[in-house]
Amino acid sequence: MKVLIIGNGGREHAIAWKLNQSPLVSKIYCCPGNAGTAQIGENIRVDCNVIEDIADFVEQNKVELTIVGAEAYLAQGAVDYFQMRGLNVYGPTQAAAGLESSKSWAKEFMFKYHIPTAHSQTFSHPEAAKDYIRQTGVPIVIKADGLAAGKGVVVAFELETALKAIDDCMVAQIYGEAGTTVIVEEYLEGEEVSLLAFSDGYLAVPMLPVQDHKRIGDGDTGPNTGGMGTYAPTTAFTAAIKEKVVNEILIPTIQGMKNEGTPFVGTLFIGLMLTSDGPKVVEYNVRFGDPETQVVLPLLESDLAQIFIDCVSGKLNPDSIKWKMGKTAVCVVAASGGYPGKYQTGEPIDGLEEIRNSLVFHAGTKFNFNGDIVTAGGRVLNVVHLGNNIGAAIDGAYRDLALLSFEGMYYRKDIGRRELLRSGV
Ligand SMILES: Nc1ncnc2c1ncn2[C@@H]1O[C@H](COP(=O)(O)OP(=O)(O)O)[C@@H](O)[C@H]1O
Ligand SMILES: [Mg+2]
Repeated sequence: MKVLIIGNGGREHAIAWKLNQSPLVSKIYCCPGNAGTAQIGENIRVDCNVIEDIADFVEQNKVELTIVGAEAYLAQGAVDYFQMRGLNVYGPTQAAAGLESSKSWAKEFMFKYHIPTAHSQTFSHPEAAKDYIRQTGVPIVIKADGLAAGKGVVVAFELETALKAIDDCMVAQIYGEAGTTVIVEEYLEGEEVSLLAFSDGYLAVPMLPVQDHKRIGDGDTGPNTGGMGTYAPTTAFTAAIKEKVVNEILIPTIQGMKNEGTPFVGTLFIGLMLTSDGPKVVEYNVRFGDPETQVVLPLLESDLAQIFIDCVSGKLNPDSIKWKMGKTAVCVVAASGGYPGKYQTGEPIDGLEEIRNSLVFHAGTKFNFNGDIVTAGGRVLNVVHLGNNIGAAIDGAYRDLALLSFEGMYYRKDIGRRELLRSGV
């Protein structure tokens, strides 16, 4: 079967890499893809912002399954459009993608189905939001309602910061439409864990739990990024916590969506805070996470293409999903100097061919006119190492990362350290 993956991040390269191992898959297309996906499959020459053109390509080339990587396409109804044209596609419909594209809708949904999450209020007038913040006090969390590319949340420890966040969002409208409604939310304290799950609309199967490193600097300092590194599984997510999350969050979410008439098919990503009062939902995403996917898929034993087919046809079999037990994966992101602010692109990347013992998933890379691989984005490469324990995985990832270089290359030095301290090996 021919497949097409929409997106261009490390996540999409990881999906392509895993699908490439499936005996069911004969050809992988990516739109737009990157220099990494080009080495596994073919990056097609179609304007990937135009969903109609992608669907035309899929029809003409008899692509049997399309996987939508990024949230913007899902929120715009890419899945609905493919379905309307009778094309097989893995991902939620526009209505089901509301779990991510409207945080206020997601909050109402959780409230209705008694799914544990932070207390919150939704506002469409800045003065009302500010009055509420003054009454409640800090710490407090302010969130733009819509999609803001991971930049629409302010965790405020000072009243001024919180009030300014309201002005930025609702008055200056720095996130545009996405911030005309805001959610003001109770601050949750605890370990943050990402749990992804495959769902066919009826039932969901959790993947291994992941911890991300969102801040740019070591020791979780500096501004937020798309994610600077991950590891899986995390021992912070105990069997008892897993049971609670599955019963109190995952199952009610999938059943609730079915009940709403908008069954969720695709990858459901639950952002969790493990509080002293039990696990609570920070947010939902409706697709694979980046860089969560880069550690989860290398630990998946089973055939990803078969899982996608089973989800799309409503026949997901929980027993068919197996993980590599006893292995820990660490992903360290190499970013362009200056990211998440301004950065240079077009810098040649050295050392890729020297890496033997780790996986390298490309993010912002491309081939230049000479056929050399150069930087083309903020996050550039993901080095993923599988070890018998967290310590071995960390050492392996950093050893191989040291073989790579490009002008201005930056990476965090402490990916996985928290887990190392917790687990002791
Ligand atoms: N209620 C909360 N309490 C504490 N921290 C929070 C809370 N909500 C969000 N955060 C922090 O802010 C980050 C971004 O918020 P999130 O809801 O995931 O939005 P997005 O990913 O769309 O930016 C989270 O990963 C978490 O670290
Ligand atoms: Mg998030």
